[in-house]
Amino acid sequence: MKDRSNFSNKLGFVLAAAGSAVGLGNIWRFPYLAAKYGGGTFLLIYLILAVTFGFTLMIAEIALGRKTGISAIGAFKSLDRRFGFLGFLASLVPVIIFPYYSVIGGWVIKYFAVFVSGGVQDAAGDTYFTDFISGTMQPIGWFLLFLGLTAIVVLCGVEKGIEKVSKVMMPILVVLTIIIAVYGLTLEGAMEGLVYYIQPHMADVSAKTILAAMGQLFYSMSLAMGIMITYGSYMKKENHLESSVRQIELFDTGIAFLAGLMIIPAVFAFSGGDRSALSAGPGLMFMTLPKVFASMKFGGVIGTIFFVLVFFAALTSAISLMETIVSVFMDKFGWTRRFTGILVAILAAVMGIPSSLGFGSLSFISWMGMSVLDIMDFVSNSVLMPIVAFFTCVFVGFIIKPKAIADEVKITDGKFKAEKMFNVVIKWVAPIFLVLILTSSIASALGIFTL
Ligand code: PHE
Repeated sequence: MKDRSNFSNKLGFVLAAAGSAVGLGNIWRFPYLAAKYGGGTFLLIYLILAVTFGFTLMIAEIALGRKTGISAIGAFKSLDRRFGFLGFLASLVPVIIFPYYSVIGGWVIKYFAVFVSGGVQDAAGDTYFTDFISGTMQPIGWFLLFLGLTAIVVLCGVEKGIEKVSKVMMPILVVLTIIIAVYGLTLEGAMEGLVYYIQPHMADVSAKTILAAMGQLFYSMSLAMGIMITYGSYMKKENHLESSVRQIELFDTGIAFLAGLMIIPAVFAFSGGDRSALSAGPGLMFMTLPKVFASMKFGGVIGTIFFVLVFFAALTSAISLMETIVSVFMDKFGWTRRFTGILVAILAAVMGIPSSLGFGSLSFISWMGMSVLDIMDFVSNSVLMPIVAFFTCVFVGFIIKPKAIADEVKITDGKFKAEKMFNVVIKWVAPIFLVLILTSSIASALGIFTL
């Protein structure tokens, strides 16, 4: 086999994986879920799940990648021929997500452009966002720009593209997030929001809280879509796997928590404590926040910084999605990076256009009230990902056995501190929870029951 590309060192690997993990999910979805499902209680549940369940699945995926040295399709197949389908399903997830994620990435660049050119007040207009996304050429143009930027990084390769960009963007992202969070906390009325975010409200906690936290965890850690397998295949054997996973988790959870600090108190200050503003879902980032920025002193600058950081978060995630697809094709067909990268970019451009137009000229296409983009999101996140994660647990727990993973983890210094927990979670706890998540998300989408 040809020499595989590698991340140059542990820091490069950790930052690239954290770059994948930290994305739009951390910045708008996490704060909004925390606000909706019990504040402090949600935070606590999320944290517990992250260090048990998230840790276990991430270790398993990275170890699978590093052990086999190939991306998802080949990784599963090379260990057991019957599981080739699992690699295929896992690789299908980024194929579905990448195009529409880039559509949203395009919206982020557009908002950055508006803020940096002094358009705070425009962006705060009531119909600004819907007017923009229901257009044709504008959103497609921004989408293609975002896609093009992602493609350039991927074409530059693992070490010279992905690693370099992550090493620059991730530290900047942390600093910018802290700046906005600190500024937000100084606004009048922000403290009430802070208390709301951190204090447990038992009344909002139910079985659904755990499932919501679990679903978010998956998406946020970029699990069950072959990404961590691919990145693991670029990790050197001398880099410590267990501590890398701890650091990636710390990064991802830390940024999610800070995003809550950045958004919830500011929205509270703006709305005078009316928390319904937080439950706007996706509208939170593109409709509510611009209004919040427009109402604050230095709102133009803060808004610009905010969209820069969201752009960094989205770009590093999109890179991991694209790299996973490119890597599957390169491994399977032996094509060059350049050819594969260009091909994948063209395919993603074609596939993303319907998602973009789904808010405008194609808005008549809808299924159970969802637009094209929402349908893609539902199929990948709520259906395919739990299925892939479930079979990954079965595969590791009962086919290759947890010891195969433990041996890979121990290569560096013979230690795997959380091995006992890993064994129990991968064989029993995780599969049971995954079946619950899958049933509940399908049942609630079909309107059969909602927890
Ligand atoms: N983990 C990213 C986030 O939190 C989302 C993502 C999903 C990234 C899929 C890559 C692939 O937003």
